Amino acid sequence: MEKKKLAIITLGCQMNKSDSEWLAGTLTEEYEYTEDKTEADFLVVNTCAVRDKAEHKFFSLLGTLRPLKAANKNLVIGVAGCMAQEHGEMIVQREPLVDIVFGTRALDKAHILLRKFEETGRPQVDTSYGSEYEDFPVRRESALSAWVPIMRGCGNHCSYCIVPSTRGPEQSRPISNLLNEVSALIAQGYREITLLGQNVNSYGVGLGGGVDFPGLLRQMNPIAVDARIRFVTSHPKDLSDSLIGAMTELESVCPYLHLPIQSGSDKILELMKRGYTADRYFDRVDKLRERIPDLSLTSDVIVGFPGESDEDFEATFRAVERANYDNIFLFKYSPRPNTPAENLPGRIPAKLAQERFDRVMTLQKEITAKRLAGWIGRDVEVLVDGPSKRDTEKMCGRTPQNIVVNFTSGEDFTGRLVRVKITKSGQFSLHGDILR
Ligand code: 5AD
Ligand code: SF4
Repeated sequence: MEKKKLAIITLGCQMNKSDSEWLAGTLTEEYEYTEDKTEADFLVVNTCAVRDKAEHKFFSLLGTLRPLKAANKNLVIGVAGCMAQEHGEMIVQREPLVDIVFGTRALDKAHILLRKFEETGRPQVDTSYGSEYEDFPVRRESALSAWVPIMRGCGNHCSYCIVPSTRGPEQSRPISNLLNEVSALIAQGYREITLLGQNVNSYGVGLGGGVDFPGLLRQMNPIAVDARIRFVTSHPKDLSDSLIGAMTELESVCPYLHLPIQSGSDKILELMKRGYTADRYFDRVDKLRERIPDLSLTSDVIVGFPGESDEDFEATFRAVERANYDNIFLFKYSPRPNTPAENLPGRIPAKLAQERFDRVMTLQKEITAKRLAGWIGRDVEVLVDGPSKRDTEKMCGRTPQNIVVNFTSGEDFTGRLVRVKITKSGQFSLHGDILR
């Protein structure tokens, strides 16, 4: 019998991309994956709720799915992810288009909900927590780079963030599962492993057995033969000397760190409930820079948090300048339902928030360009992703720092590690020639 077809539209973060791959894996017995939404029998939107913009994006996307449902009355539309968790029932009440809603920890229930929907013709909603997702054949997008979630949920309580409520309490995956998954990936030819968690630095809490994140890296290092290990996201409050030590010593761990500062003002950091001061953040950064000279450091920054005075904003501006980030993700504060910051006084007018946003954006663009230019003349190791999308004469890959390099090679080196001499830098990437 011919399999039905599944399509997934993924919004939001890397954890969502990983969840989508996992969801597709759980359904492989009944569904074949398709990139073409118009031929799907089951179409899932994996949603993000981190800012209100992400939510608007989802509702406008739903509008574009209407014609698909009109053309194929058997099409089943599912909503997964953080908005599914946040709104549950409300989504099927508001949107008759949606047939199934399943939350961030009910992904493995998709097939049960599908069956119930087919039997009853009534929309199905499951936002329960509890199910584990292990040992399914993950359907991965890439044959070279793999996401490996090492934990679920979030145990922090940043006052602006909806994630602890949409993704539930923090829970680490057992180390044996992770080591097995990584060895299998290496055997299949994967060359890059990105470990995912809302706060990888608290990996192991609650597992028993005394393993922590640096310990996990130490055990993974010998398994990740000829491969690169990265991880996101690190919380500055938990960034230990032991992790810096592991990053320095372990050859498979990349000199790359995403370490969100959020704000440079101690007053705002306190209101955000981040658990560190700007001094403590820079103590970590200085140590990292000293121990890992070619480190690529990236960050998340929020402007316009309630109560952010001109002075607080200047502190953030100076912090971004001082940190000399390779890049940042910059956001305007967006009030989220049921978060402590939602009710804080001192909301910043949209126009002022936009001005602050633009100033930091301009600053970071300059810094990024300068840092990229600093690579000119150097010889770097590049893991080749494939032909360049812009210029098919060239190949495209990334350095251990995750910087994109387009280079002339005359041959297809996809999936290989090559050395490239950097000749030119652009706004977002580097250019060079392969070295023989
Ligand atoms: N408003 C703006 N940005 C937010 N982030 C999380 N919650 C909010 C919010 N309510 C940002 C943080 C986080 C990143 C994933 O999204 O910077 O690190
Ligand atoms: Fe990812 Fe957070 Fe968005 Fe959920 S709300 S998809 S965890 S960025």
